[in-house]
Amino acid sequence: MRRKLVAGNWKLNLGPAAAAKLARQVALGVPGLDRPPEVLVCPPYVSIPAVAAVLKDSAVRLGAQNCAVEDAGAFTGEVSAPMLAEAGATHVIVAHSERRTHQRETDDDFVRKIDRAHAAGLTAVFCYGERLEERRAGRERDVVRAQLAAVLPRLASPAPANLVLAYEPVWAIGTGETATPEQAQEIHAFSRGIVGELLGNDAAARMRILYGGSMKPDNAVELMRQPDIDGGLIGGASLKAEDFLAIVRGAI
Ligand code: PGA
Repeated sequence: MRRKLVAGNWKLNLGPAAAAKLARQVALGVPGLDRPPEVLVCPPYVSIPAVAAVLKDSAVRLGAQNCAVEDAGAFTGEVSAPMLAEAGATHVIVAHSERRTHQRETDDDFVRKIDRAHAAGLTAVFCYGERLEERRAGRERDVVRAQLAAVLPRLASPAPANLVLAYEPVWAIGTGETATPEQAQEIHAFSRGIVGELLGNDAAARMRILYGGSMKPDNAVELMRQPDIDGGLIGGASLKAEDFLAIVRGAI
């Protein structure tokens, strides 16, 4: 049975003081729950130490939103996976659509980043999903297959213990438009089939696949009740403790 994971992607929001405050509210809210899922928050790099201090004795996990393709060297402005691990992170998001678009990151980058993350002992959360024009053209399955096939088989150690997938249809991110539970379930089941082809049936059965894209308290339960949706990657609604905790509560 796959344990659900509810992850907050804080994006470019919350400096150290505000991030520590939100992390404290989340950490206080989670233990009161009956059967809490795994919970993860991903602040901006600069807020990681402050959040790590707050979460030190808590069950809430800490992730980064990106990492460098190298561990060290002359790469101005970069932050590496070993540094993130040292700062207290256990997870790192890789291949978010905003980085695919704005930073023009490529499949080669994703493979290198995930391998660096794994070598540093981090769990990678690998994002994929089609754009609006691709869905309109009925190409979502082709896109999903291509994005998974371009990365998963090339990883040095692609195992469900250190890898989580996040299906995020780009047209649903930050738009208020969510995939219906049926639409999401269809692609999640399809994705699991692809994972089976690429990594084997055992990996497919154990791999967690999160849904991301305008997940909110009022749609989270229905989405996460689908058999192949193993949690959520939440942007906007993760910035309010009350909303994020409501989603956490819905992850049964
Ligand atoms: P959203 O973002 O919940 O604000 O749509 C999700 C994400 O980009 O991870």
